Amino acid sequence: MIDLRSDTVTHPTPAMRKAMYEAELGDDVFGDDPTVNALQERAAELLGKEAALFVASGSMANLVSQLAHLGRGQETIAGASTHIVDDEQAGHAVVVGTSIKPMRENPDGTFDLADLERAFRDPSDPHQPITGLVAIENTHAHSMGQPLTVDYTRAVARIAHAHGVPLHVDGARFFNAAVALGVSPKELAAPADSVAFCLSKGLSCPIGSMVAGSRDFIHRAWRGRKLVGGGMRQVGVLAAAGLVALSSGPDGMIDRLAEDHANARRLAEGLAAMDGVESAGGIAQPAPGKLDPRRATTNFVVFSVHRNRAAYLDALKSRGVLMVEYADDTIRAVTHYGVTAADIEKVLTASAAALRETAFTTTATSAVLER
Ligand SMILES: Cc1ncc(COP(=O)(O)O)c(C=O)c1O
Repeated sequence: MIDLRSDTVTHPTPAMRKAMYEAELGDDVFGDDPTVNALQERAAELLGKEAALFVASGSMANLVSQLAHLGRGQETIAGASTHIVDDEQAGHAVVVGTSIKPMRENPDGTFDLADLERAFRDPSDPHQPITGLVAIENTHAHSMGQPLTVDYTRAVARIAHAHGVPLHVDGARFFNAAVALGVSPKELAAPADSVAFCLSKGLSCPIGSMVAGSRDFIHRAWRGRKLVGGGMRQVGVLAAAGLVALSSGPDGMIDRLAEDHANARRLAEGLAAMDGVESAGGIAQPAPGKLDPRRATTNFVVFSVHRNRAAYLDALKSRGVLMVEYADDTIRAVTHYGVTAADIEKVLTASAAALRETAFTTTATSAVLER
């Protein structure tokens, strides 16, 4: 199978497996695991922050960040489609006790700065919650993985800070953004008060995410992690994979993300040339009509088919290719470690055949609709 459902399907590299086997361990709840400590130092250094914390998942990274930044009854300003808003079982409400002010988003993954200015609550009005956090997502998944620039991050931070509010970046694919923009992770992280990133997506680790920020913030996040049951013991076996991923040597997984981006662009170009493949609409592909492959800037390709979507996906599957249903009737394909340029050509061949095979399903559906 060529599995393009997500970059979370990646398996650890041979270098990671070796490092996991050989990892020096300790009880991390006592702060005794040298491998975890080394990973936390490495993540903090890479992002130019004082400290970092290893957590189980991207959702936990966002949750403990919110616990660290917010008090009950406060509110977070965040893009309407983002993971924090839509895909974390309202953990902000259930666990943190806060509300969300969802922002209309642009096709480049940003929200308008004028809208942001207007979104802050009036603390003198007792009817309103108090704004306690601004959160952005980088890369921004629903806009087809657009990377948010350093300038934009700075502009958002400036506004947030002028209101006395911190900026959190959900950077599940933060390194994809840095690589696509050609900037250092440190520069991209600098305006933010906290940055979360996933080890278990494009970086190919089996489990884990990091949160980085000031020492005080990380102390509060560390308490939050224990609250949600995320204090782990000899977890250096997992952190060891993260250290390999973040290393600057030949086994490091950051620079190679450029390969995934090139593969996504090639996939988008090939798909765009096929009859029956369309722009996804919405913020993933704002211009109606053909898929615009130039929007494949990181490792996401989001598109629609002028076919029955489930039938097309089944036809792909029967040819050894997995993609996944995505928001607004779209389909998502994500490139990652283990998917080669040659695989992309196979995917395109499979897609052409799947489109031919499922052409009938549209005709049938439209006939029903016309009636
Ligand atoms: C933007 C974003 N943030 C957070 C997460 C959560 O990561 P996890 O699945 O590790 O909880 C995801 C997962 O897909 C994501 O895409």
